Amino acid sequence: MSTAPVPELAETATACADRLHAADRVLVASHIDADGLTSAAVADTALERAGIEHEQLFFEQLDTEAIDRLAATDYETVLFTDFGSGQLDDIVAHEDRGAFTPIVADHHQPAEAATEYHINPLLVGLNGARELSGAGAAYVLARALERDGVDNRDLAATAVVGAIGDMQDSDGELHGANAALVAEGVAAGALSEAKDLAVYGKQTRPLPKLLEYATDTYIPGISNSYAGAVEFLDELAVDCRAADEEWKRWVDLTDEERQTVASALVQHAVGRGVPAEKIERLVATTYTLTDEPTGTELRDASEFSTLLNATARYGRADVGLAVCLGDRTGALETARELLRTHRRNLSDGLTWVKEQGVTDAGHVQWFDAAEEIRATIVGIVAGMSMGTDGVDRSKPVVAFARESDTETKVSSRGTGSLVRRGLDLSVVMGEASEAVGGGGGGHDVAAGATIPVGEEEAFIEHANELVGEQLG
Ligand code: C5P
Ligand code: C5P
Ligand code: ZN
Repeated sequence: MSTAPVPELAETATACADRLHAADRVLVASHIDADGLTSAAVADTALERAGIEHEQLFFEQLDTEAIDRLAATDYETVLFTDFGSGQLDDIVAHEDRGAFTPIVADHHQPAEAATEYHINPLLVGLNGARELSGAGAAYVLARALERDGVDNRDLAATAVVGAIGDMQDSDGELHGANAALVAEGVAAGALSEAKDLAVYGKQTRPLPKLLEYATDTYIPGISNSYAGAVEFLDELAVDCRAADEEWKRWVDLTDEERQTVASALVQHAVGRGVPAEKIERLVATTYTLTDEPTGTELRDASEFSTLLNATARYGRADVGLAVCLGDRTGALETARELLRTHRRNLSDGLTWVKEQGVTDAGHVQWFDAAEEIRATIVGIVAGMSMGTDGVDRSKPVVAFARESDTETKVSSRGTGSLVRRGLDLSVVMGEASEAVGGGGGGHDVAAGATIPVGEEEAFIEHANELVGEQLG
C-alpha cells in the first residue's frame, strides 16, 4: 500500500480496511445524493477490487426504520457511507446487541456515541463541509483497502465529483484534504484542474445559454437574457458558431478564444457597475474528468454531480450508481432524461420561491413549499435562492416541504461569512427539531431535519432563537 492521502485519518482507515478484509461479505448503505452515490461507487469499486463480496443499498434518510432494516439482514458487517456519523447513537445500540459491526465513512457532525471503525474528518480537526466529503471519506478507505498491487487513485476523480456535489468548493476551489485528493487524481491521470470561467454547463450548453443561465454573478444585459447573450457574443471577434450555424459550446472554443470571451465578459460586467468582489467570482477552479468524452456532462465535475442528483433524488439511485461505475449506455440515457426533469423542477422551484417570497422571522428567513417542491430537492432550491431577489444573504434560509402525510422535511442553508460569525445550522436543526419531536443534523453551513406536520411554526421559533444566540 502506498502513502495515505489524508495522514490524519490513516490509522482509522487502516483499521477499517483490515476489518473489511476480514469480513465474508459486506452490506454498503449510502445516502441518495451526488456525494452519497459517489461514496457508494468508490466503496463498491474498492471492495470489488479487493475481492470482498458486497451489496449496495441507498436511503433518503438513515432513520430508525432504515437502521432496523439493515440490522434485520444477515450481514455481519455494514459499511455506511455519506451518513452514519449523525446516527451513531442508534447504530451503536445495534452493534452492542450484536446485530452487525458498523464501519462508517462520513463527514457529518457525529452523534455522542463512539465506535471503533469510524472515518470522519471532524474527528481529527478537519472541516466536514469544506475539506472532505462522504465520497472523500470513502476514498480514504479505498486507498487503505489496496492490497497486491491494486491502485485506487483513479477513484479520486469520482470522489471529487462528490465533493463538488456537496459544494465544498463554494469559495471557488477545493481545499485541504480535498486538494490532496485532487493531486492524487491528477497523478493517476484521471483528473485535471484549471482556472476557468465559473459558470455551470461549460461542457454541454450552447454559448448563449451558458451565459444566459450564469446568474451566480449577475451581469446586467446578459444574465437571464438570451437575446442579450446573443448580442454580446455576436459583437466579439470570436467565431461562436460552428459551420452549420449551430452555437458552439465553451469546450469547442480554443484557449485563446475562451480568454477573449472571458475578458470581454469581465469588461462588460465592469462597464455595467458589477462590484469587483463579484467580478472575482467569475473565475474559479474547474475540475475535469479527463477520461470522459469532451462535451458530455461526465467530463465536468459540477455537471456530473448535477446529473447524479437528478437520479438518486428521484428514486433512481441505481441509475446514478451505474453511471458512476461506468455504464455509458442505458443508464446514461436514463440519467439524461431524469436530468431534464430535475432542471425543470429546480427552475420551477426557484420561480415559486421568488413569487411567494420568504417570511422574515428576525434571525432567519423561511418559506413553506408544502407540496410545491419535492422534499428531496428543497434544500438545493433553498441554497440557489440565497442572494436572488427577496432572499438576502445576511440571514440563513429555512425551507419546509411535505415529506409524507405526517412528516415535514426541513432544509437550511447559510453562507461562509455567517459561519465565520458563529452560525452552526447542524446544531440549530438538531436542537430545534428535537424540541418539536423530530430529528436532524448536517453541517454548519447546510443542515436538515424531519419534523411532525403542524410543528413548522414552533420549529421556526426555536430555530430563530438559536440562530440569534449563535450570531450574538
Ligand atoms: O448530505 P450532504 O453532506 O451530502 O449534503 C451537503 C449539502 O450541503 C449539499 O446539499 C450542499 O449543497 C450543501 N452545502 C451548501 N453550501 C456549502 C456546502 C454544502 O449549501 N458551502
Ligand atoms: O436535505 P438537505 O439537502 O437540506 O440536507 C442538508 C444537510 O443536512 C445534508 O448534509 C444532509 O445529509 C443533512 N441532514 C441530516 N439530517 C436530516 C436531514 C439532513 O443530517 N434529517
Ligand atoms: Zn455528503
